[in-house]
Amino acid sequence: MYTLITGASSGVGRELAICLSQTRSLILSGRNTERLNETKSACKNNDILLWPYDLEKTDRLEAELSAWIKENNVQIDSFVHCAGLMKMVPLRAINYEIILNTYSVNVFSTQLIIKTLASRKINGGNLKAAVFISSNISNRGAAAFSAYGASKAALDGLARNLAAELAPNIRVNSVLPGGMITEMTKDMFADENMRNMFNKNYPLGIGTPKDIAPLVEFLLSDKSGWITGQQFVVDGGRTIDITERKD
Ligand SMILES: NC(=O)c1ccc[n+]([C@@H]2O[C@H](COP(=O)([O-])OP(=O)(O)OC[C@H]3O[C@@H](n4cnc5c(N)ncnc54)[C@H](OP(=O)(O)O)[C@@H]3O)[C@@H](O)[C@H]2O)c1
Repeated sequence: MYTLITGASSGVGRELAICLSQTRSLILSGRNTERLNETKSACKNNDILLWPYDLEKTDRLEAELSAWIKENNVQIDSFVHCAGLMKMVPLRAINYEIILNTYSVNVFSTQLIIKTLASRKINGGNLKAAVFISSNISNRGAAAFSAYGASKAALDGLARNLAAELAPNIRVNSVLPGGMITEMTKDMFADENMRNMFNKNYPLGIGTPKDIAPLVEFLLSDKSGWITGQQFVVDGGRTIDITERKD
């Protein structure tokens, strides 16, 4: 049995692959094959396959994934959607292409992948658990984040609806991280003012992918067998803290 991880070439997905590789066989997905191989080298297990795919290509996704599963003769019992596209764009500069690409990577591909994995014909009814990596912006809002923030709210909605539809065979949950320093955010955190603002607003400080992986591991395991359709915020207390801090 394999666990499919999208976004495995970097950040949270890479850390998760390293963590899960201690106990699971993995399929790592992303666009950049070189960086997927770096993730593979950092993993503890040798039973690791690569499925390089550009998730903006949603029209061919079902057919391509189905063919890949057949060709490699694999059975997949768990899925983590970690791939994400985040562009900070004010509304006046938003266009259809940005919206489409953001939703394709963050939401549409998730739905098409889980449809494929839930198919008895393609995956033999083996899928048991899925975790979507959302964001704490899903329940909030921020200037210049309308495409990204709304796509993450859609992803959480997808998790809840699929949890209802696929029970009792498949559990679906989402994890909502707060700010972590990864490829996605490194430019943002390079700015000292931004770093100071984050440090001030995060009671437990800025996070890292290591803060996310153990919860995902738990949500994929039988230890969370009675948990489905839930959103788990992991953001160092950012969204519960209304303390006004003076500099
Ligand atoms: N970092 C944060 O502060 C933060 C906060 C909240 C939520 N998140 C969420 O956490 C998840 C992981 O982000 P991260 O911080 O680890 O960022 P990251 O290091 O930039 O990783 C993003 C991953 O998404 C993949 N990806 C992007 N576009 C893709 C596409 N068109 N097709 C296939 N894969 C694609 C990338 O793979 P390739 O480049 O190889 O295609 C990469 O593996 C995302 O869903 C993000 O929204 C991050």
